[in-house]
Amino acid sequence: MKAFDYWHPILRTKDLKRKPVSVNFCGREVVLFRGQDGTLAALEDCCPHRRMRLSKGKVKGNRLVCPYHGWSYDQSGKGISPSTSALYPCVKSYEVTERCCAIWVKEHGSTAELPTLAKPGLHHVCTLHYHIRAPLELVVDNFCEIEHSCTTHILLGHDLEAISLVESRIETTDDAVRIINKGPQKKMPRLLEYLLGYKRGDLFVGELEILFSPVRVNIRNYWTSSNASECRKREAQGTVVFNPVNDQETEIMLFSFMSQELSVFSRLLNPLATFLLDFETRLDQKMLEGIADKDTKLTGVQLGRFDKPLGLTRERIKRLYWQRDFTPLP
Ligand code: FES
Ligand SMILES: [Fe+2]
Repeated sequence: MKAFDYWHPILRTKDLKRKPVSVNFCGREVVLFRGQDGTLAALEDCCPHRRMRLSKGKVKGNRLVCPYHGWSYDQSGKGISPSTSALYPCVKSYEVTERCCAIWVKEHGSTAELPTLAKPGLHHVCTLHYHIRAPLELVVDNFCEIEHSCTTHILLGHDLEAISLVESRIETTDDAVRIINKGPQKKMPRLLEYLLGYKRGDLFVGELEILFSPVRVNIRNYWTSSNASECRKREAQGTVVFNPVNDQETEIMLFSFMSQELSVFSRLLNPLATFLLDFETRLDQKMLEGIADKDTKLTGVQLGRFDKPLGLTRERIKRLYWQRDFTPLP
């Protein structure tokens, strides 16, 4: 399987309106559009006639009309040329579906399944989308070490003064890396403490599961009493899916969930949690884009005790995701 054989969430549902939208992904340009009957379509964003971008065109009925000479394509990519009726132009199409407020695409014919985003019964809070000027491996690094939470983040994570107390455990299988971090939570506003059921002195636990088909991190955050004997009831879960744009840029789609019991507060909590998550993720983005040397090799960098996952994820990204015959465009 190659990267494009896996399902990737390349656009939020709400970002596709009447006009077609072009998305860069894995060195390809894909145009997404919705026909009048509501059916979604994903085609290569290039008219086979004279290579005009189809995303510059218009949707008419259930067809996408190229703006250059008016040739049009249905949702499976079958075309009509008004000037040359005996011609049957065809543009490459992708399998497309919607899930959790995002539009997902993959190659036709691949057997990949849609990733599981959260355990059943959780309440969906938001789906957020970011474009980060950093290579895939460096963006993944940021989401699988907790050390940066002390300084990059405002609310979730650990205090720099107490980072030496944070325990970190790693478990690996052939196709997954799991990390469990546990330690003192940094100070939070009272309202958030109340909503999360957090008591001062509690330990913050972050469980991360990194998978590679597609590359994604399942995150589970919860709190325990200081002696770890009691788990607080409320928890936050999320999945971050990584979409490489090219070898220097990456997009991420972040799906956030909360304990079902918190859904009674959803009118207050959803906008608040969305604002805070967006704020915190933009801090990650800013930090990643500020890295001086974006070489993804680990030679020449000095690694600390929280950096052990970096080599483990790189090896799996290369072996399970890029595959030997896949070369991202420069
Ligand atoms: S380039 Fe699209 S119709 Fe001519
Ligand atoms: Fe972060």
